[in-house]
Parts: sequence; structure tokens; C-alpha cells
Amino acid sequence: MNSSATQKLNIQKVESSRIGQVDFSNLTFGSTFSDHMFECDYKDGTWQNPTIKPYGPLTISPAAKVFHYGQAVFEGMKAYKDDNGKVWLFRPQENFLRINKSSVRMAMPEFPRDIFFDALTTLVKMDKDWIKPGLGNSLYIRPFVMATQVGVGASPSTEYKFMILMSPAQAYYTGDVKVVIADHYSRSANGGVGAAKAAGNYGAQFFPTNLAREKGFQQVIWTDANNHEYLEEAGTMNVFFRVNDTLLTAPISDRILDGVTRKSVIALAKQDNIKVEERPVLVSEIVEAAKNGSLKEIFGAGTAAVISPVCAFSYKEDTFDLEKQDDGFAARFKKELLDIQYNRSEDPFDWRFEVV
Ligand code: COI
Repeated sequence: MNSSATQKLNIQKVESSRIGQVDFSNLTFGSTFSDHMFECDYKDGTWQNPTIKPYGPLTISPAAKVFHYGQAVFEGMKAYKDDNGKVWLFRPQENFLRINKSSVRMAMPEFPRDIFFDALTTLVKMDKDWIKPGLGNSLYIRPFVMATQVGVGASPSTEYKFMILMSPAQAYYTGDVKVVIADHYSRSANGGVGAAKAAGNYGAQFFPTNLAREKGFQQVIWTDANNHEYLEEAGTMNVFFRVNDTLLTAPISDRILDGVTRKSVIALAKQDNIKVEERPVLVSEIVEAAKNGSLKEIFGAGTAAVISPVCAFSYKEDTFDLEKQDDGFAARFKKELLDIQYNRSEDPFDWRFEVV
């Protein structure tokens, strides 16, 4: 890893906060940003000049490689305020490790751990008033890295910018989620970048997702690129299927994102003595389970929505409805996760990370 001794974090504070202009009861996910952001540049083979400064626009060359070759990766994490005003992160070490894993896959330099945690905790402390207490309220944190070298030669950039933005968020209520099982488009392929949180993975989903929306569905369940036989992810999330009382999900591979919510759900399920099978899940077995009544639930798991239950899915010409389960696995894991994240329960796995 490209690291050196801890570099001093430069801090430039806003003259006056914008917080008074924000309606915290009416937030659109990811569209309002807190007062400060973090920026650090990679040049001459080293990360330098880590700086927290007022949130605002960047000046960047139109020839920067990120615009031409999509060398960009990101993370999603959240800060939570408990009922006593303490601020917590959830498994931030996982996001740190994953952004570097994503960077390596995209031929980008790894970011030093000490600067990451110094910047993250300082930024969250500085803008902690932007985190409102109450279940569902959080500060969505978006670390990302982009290639900034000027030049359209198709080779890895020699310069990068690592940034962290923070956006106050309310409960990510998506309403009823109906999904289409993909039988043509795919999200990732063997040997591809599916396991990386590469920006282009998400941009590439927009077109097939729009097609699903035109048919009245909100999301796509992605299947393997070879034969569309295996179920892999749902929209921007990992996906779980409950067949009778067994939980099924695709195993981690170079096609599947190693989701923090995914691995937390698996740990909670095992703790609750629920049988979990991490194995290739056939479309045909889920269609058959829907037909014979053993398919009880499908839900997505990700940082933004936490757990997102699916109420119906379509496959080729058929649509299958799933009964709403107020006390099903999805509701249970969502409550268990939120209780840990908001410091309302014990933390047997040591997932909470106290910021202030
Ligand atoms: C997540 O929930 O994990 C995400 O990555 C969502 C983000 C693309 C908005």
C-alpha cells in the first residue's frame, strides 16, 4: 500500500454553515451535502495534501482520464446518531478495505489507512449536526477516487483525487419493489469488475433498469452473463431468497460485490440459527419455489436501503407476487441491523465504531 507517515490534515472551515437552509424532513437521497468535504491528491507516486474544506465545485480539466476511461471507484457508508447524541459508523474498516480492492482492480493506487480514518472521523465530527437522531436518519458518506491526469491516451492515470462527501439522508423508503429477472442484459462477467465498486458498474445498469421501469418494475435482478441461469444481485444491492426457512444468496466471486450489509445479514442469520446457503442460486429453482409456495421472501441488502423487500418478480412472460411479510426475515434483519447501527442493542460482533 502506498502509505507513509501520517500526513497532517489541513482544515479549512466554512465561514457560516448552510445547515439552516436544509429541510431535514424532506430530503431527496444523495442531493444535499454537508458543509465540508475531504480531498487528497495523488501525484509523483504519493498521496499528498489531505485537506478538509468547504463543500463546493472542483476545477478539473475536461481531458482528465476519469471522463474518458471511467477510472473511478466509490464507497457508500453511513454515520448514525443515537438517542444520547453519540455518533457511530458501521464497520468502516470494511469500506476502507473494499475501496482499495476496487482501486487495485481499476489500476488505481491504494489509499493509506491512517489518512482515510483521520479524514473520515474528523469530517464526521465537524459536520455532526447534519446527522439527525431517530431511526432511519443518517449521514450517507460517499468516499470516491477518480483519475485526474490530463490526457486521452488510453493508459492508467498517474494522478488521482480521493474525496469524501457527506449527505444527510432519511429512511430510504422505496415503496413496493417489483423486479424483473434479467434474461438479456447482465451486470458483470467472469474476470470483469463486478466485485469492484467501480462507477461504470452502476452507470451500465441505468439502461436495462429504465426498460424494466417502462414495464412497471423498479429494479432488475441480475443473472450470470453466460446463460442467465443464476441469480446474482438486485439493482445496486446483493440479493437474498428465503425458501421455506432457508436463506439463499449467491457466493462472493469476481462477479459479486462483497457487500457489508450482505455479510452482516449472513452473520445475523447464523447467530439466529437460520440456515444460510451461499451458493449459486438457479433462476429455475426460485421460479419453481414461487410456483409451489415455498418461496417466502426476496430482499435486497445494501447500505443505502439497508434491506429492501421485493413484492413481485417477473421472469420472461410470467409475474409472481410475494405475500407481504410484516414479521418475515427481511423485517427481522432490518430491525436487528438498525438496532446495532443506532446503538439500541448489544453489538456482539463489534461492528459499531464510535466517532464522538
Ligand atoms: C448501496 O446501497 O450499497 C449502494 O451502493 C447504493 C448507491 C449506489 C446509491
